[in-house]
Amino acid sequence: MCDTSLEMSWDQLRQMIQRVSERTQEIRYGIKTSGWTSEEALGYKKGDGRNHYTPLPYAAIKRLLSTVIPDKQKDVFVDWGSGLGRVVVLASTYSYREVIGVEFSPSLCVAAKSNLDRARVKQQCGSVRIVNIDAREFAVPPDSTVMFFFNPFRGQLLTQVVKQIRDSWIDHPRSITFLVSNHADFIADTGSADWLSPVSFWSAYPHISCSVIRTRV
Ligand SMILES: C[S@@+](CC[C@H](N)C(=O)[O-])C[C@H]1O[C@@H](n2cnc3c(N)ncnc32)[C@H](O)[C@@H]1O
Repeated sequence: MCDTSLEMSWDQLRQMIQRVSERTQEIRYGIKTSGWTSEEALGYKKGDGRNHYTPLPYAAIKRLLSTVIPDKQKDVFVDWGSGLGRVVVLASTYSYREVIGVEFSPSLCVAAKSNLDRARVKQQCGSVRIVNIDAREFAVPPDSTVMFFFNPFRGQLLTQVVKQIRDSWIDHPRSITFLVSNHADFIADTGSADWLSPVSFWSAYPHISCSVIRTRV
C-alpha cells in the first residue's frame, strides 16, 4: 500500500517535470507547438490511417536528431506529418541542405509557418519549407536522406508512403536514415526488412520508443 502511493507520487512528479520541461522549451524557442488535435477536429475519417496531432517531446526529438551529422552539401531532411512544426524548427538548427515538413492539415501548416517565422533559433540549414499536401501525393525528393516519422499515419497509408520512399531509393540510390518514434515494429509493419535494417533503439519517458533505421548497403 505504502509502495503504491510512493510509486504514484513519483509518477506524478515525473509528469510535472515533463510538463515544466516542455513549457520551458516552448518559451525558449518562442513557438507554440504543444497540445493535441483529434482526427475528427482535423477532418480525418475514423480508421483511414491518418493520425491526430500531438508533438513528440523535445528531449526525444533532440536525441533522435543528434544521431545524424548532416552534410550541408547533400542532406535533405523530411518530417512526414509535420503538424505545428516543432521537429522542423529543431531540424533547421542542423546543417541540412534543406528541411521539409509535409503536412495534410492546412490550419496546422499556417500555424507551423508562423512558428518557423518567429522561432528563436540559429538556423543552420540552407532552406526550410512546409508543404501542405497529403503525404501520398508528395513526390519524394530524390535527394532526401533523413526521414522523420512520429506516428503520422498507420496501416496501409504508412505502408504506401514507405513504399514510395523505397521506389525513390531504387531510382536514386543513396543512404537514407529513418528517425522513428513510437513505432517499435516499423520495419516489420511496413514490410521493409529487405531494404531497411535497425541501427539503434531506446525507450524514453513517457512511453516513448525511438529507433534509428538505415537503408541496407
Ligand atoms: C503525431 S503528429 C506528429 C507531428 C510532428 N511530427 C511532431 O512530432 O511535432 C502527426 C501529424 O501527421 C499529420 N498527418 C496525418 N496524415 C497525414 C497525411 N496523409 N499526409 C500528411 N500529414 C498527415 C497529422 O495532421 C499530424 O499533424
